Amino acid sequence: EMLLYEPKDLTGKKILVTAGPTQEDIDPVRYITNRSTGKMGYAIARAARNRGAEVVLISGPTGLKPVEGVELVKVHSADDMYNEVLKRFDKVDIVIKSAAVADYRPETKSTSKLKKSDDDLSISLTRNKDILQTLGGQKTNQILVGFAAESDDLINNALSKISKKNLDMIVANDITMEGAGFAVDTNRVKIILRDGRMIESPIMTKEELAHVILDHILTIER
Ligand code: CTP
Ligand code: CA
Repeated sequence: EMLLYEPKDLTGKKILVTAGPTQEDIDPVRYITNRSTGKMGYAIARAARNRGAEVVLISGPTGLKPVEGVELVKVHSADDMYNEVLKRFDKVDIVIKSAAVADYRPETKSTSKLKKSDDDLSISLTRNKDILQTLGGQKTNQILVGFAAESDDLINNALSKISKKNLDMIVANDITMEGAGFAVDTNRVKIILRDGRMIESPIMTKEELAHVILDHILTIER
């Protein structure tokens, strides 16, 4: 592992992490997805495990290896992720939602492969449920941490997600910045807490950022 010394400061904590993209089926061979690789979420799961937490990782399709010592629940669609997260919510202390959940799915999933014709094709999309917002409405004592990938007006968008989803903290990614966001090994974020604190992180590996995120979670009063 990367760090020589990792404190066991999450011992006794149950942490649910979501990671990766979701896939929304069009027909048996096609789907809609996004550029998430799952690296950030897997790094958080590994770091939390190393610091003593009991971790469940609910992951969309990624090419990543399971994390030893972490319970892995594989899901396909946003709806699957919703169900797996919701049924565990009342048993966990902290939820970290780094998954890039698809906002929309095809209104109907064709059971047979769509055939091409000479005409153009349009696919109607319908909204997926917002998992984090649902948790925010149900939360009792859990700490809720969201992610936000933004290309414009990062801070205002992140702040409005904190209030709309009743979050304790949000990790905001400026996806227009080099070395940040999808499919790279580094990340550069602003960590914004509900109490108004705002921490700008330098560019660092996702492994290092995972530890910084956990450090800040530990400062949240309950
Ligand atoms: N999220 C979720 N369920 C969804 C959509 C998003 O739980 N159906 C979570 C993501 O996992 C992330 C946070 O909400 O932690 C913010 O996701 P983001 O896509 O940045 O925000 P949205 O609310 O979907 O708004 P928009 O995409 O319009 O910026
Ligand atoms: Ca979204």
